[in-house]
Amino acid sequence: MLNLPFKVIKPALHALDPEKAHMVTMSALKNGLHPTFKAINDPRLQVTLWNRNFPNPVGLAAGFDKNAEAIEAILKMGFGFTEVGTVTPKSQDGNPRPRVFRDPINEAVINRMGFPNKGLDVFKANVMTYFKKANRPHGIVGLNIGMNKDQTEPANDYCALIESLGQLADYFTINISSPNTPGLRNLQQRDNLLALIGRIHEQRAKSCDQDDPPPILIKLAPDLDETQQNEIAQTVIEAGVDGLVLTNTTLERPDYLSTGFKDEMGGLSGMPVRDKSTQIIGNFYKLTHGRMPIIGIGGISNGADAYEKIKAGASLIQLYSALVYHGPELAVKICKDLLDLLEKDGFDHISKAVGTAHKL
Ligand SMILES: Cc1cc2nc3c(=O)[nH]c(=O)nc-3n(C[C@H](O)[C@H](O)[C@H](O)COP(=O)(O)O)c2cc1C
Repeated sequence: MLNLPFKVIKPALHALDPEKAHMVTMSALKNGLHPTFKAINDPRLQVTLWNRNFPNPVGLAAGFDKNAEAIEAILKMGFGFTEVGTVTPKSQDGNPRPRVFRDPINEAVINRMGFPNKGLDVFKANVMTYFKKANRPHGIVGLNIGMNKDQTEPANDYCALIESLGQLADYFTINISSPNTPGLRNLQQRDNLLALIGRIHEQRAKSCDQDDPPPILIKLAPDLDETQQNEIAQTVIEAGVDGLVLTNTTLERPDYLSTGFKDEMGGLSGMPVRDKSTQIIGNFYKLTHGRMPIIGIGGISNGADAYEKIKAGASLIQLYSALVYHGPELAVKICKDLLDLLEKDGFDHISKAVGTAHKL
């Protein structure tokens, strides 16, 4: 355990290349050299969704723990859930380095990692090891799955992953929105999406617990126009998807981004994606009549940002980029802020705030 405040460690981490800094962080987490914070244990923040109990609504987004190596450490830092992955069936190296970039002025990140990961076998062994541990912290573990770069039949990869991991997942996120795997975002088109979800549902019926199957969530890009959003909303309702994860990184480049950084290829995350993602959450909440649970992500760096996403329609929230700038204290801090915000608005439970920005 290492309980140094993040502001002490941050200068050393930020002196390193972003991916190197991440590797150092992961190595500390895996070796128990991580801070532990007393998780906020307040019934007003406990969320029950898909028959799963989330101790609080603040989760760590996919991409941080790609190989499921630090589940325990992450939950001990006060997160109510962690989404591990994206895992692909075969291990792959991803794109050439450097492939992750910071813009500290705008608290932004660009990445074009391209799903580097150690593959299904290592991932599965890590998840199994975690679940076998005694005295596990409370918390939910979602598995984020994707396809290998050289796969020409995407559904085959998603199904292979569900077949192998079906008994281990608290929930599955189907990642069809990373901008760094050629062709992946085409799976968001209606016919492709319907066919993919059909195959995934068949696989789930074969490979998962019949009485309590893991919910299937679809993770979408923020770069969808209104027509596409409409079409996808109808499709996911029709296909019986269990929830949406909104959103992944954006290909947009607002003018104010720092010179040099702005021209890097890849997906932009952090503060610059915040309002866009909140807008999409609101749109999908309305398009699905408030009936499809949403995990809201994109540029959340404090309780007010999280609360905005919740009022827009998110039942749970996640973050990644803000950890780079504010450190692991963030999960507990956001929980505390949320409790204050609920009290201020007179809500006795977080679920009462969901979607209150709209009149349905
Ligand atoms: C370095 C990096 C790697 C990421 N890798 C993945 C990934 O493997 N799978 C995925 O679904 N999302 C991935 N994401 C996207 C995040 O999960 C999240 O959707 C996005 O960054 C917006 O949230 P944020 O602004 O809080 O970072 C990645 C993001 C970053 C910054």
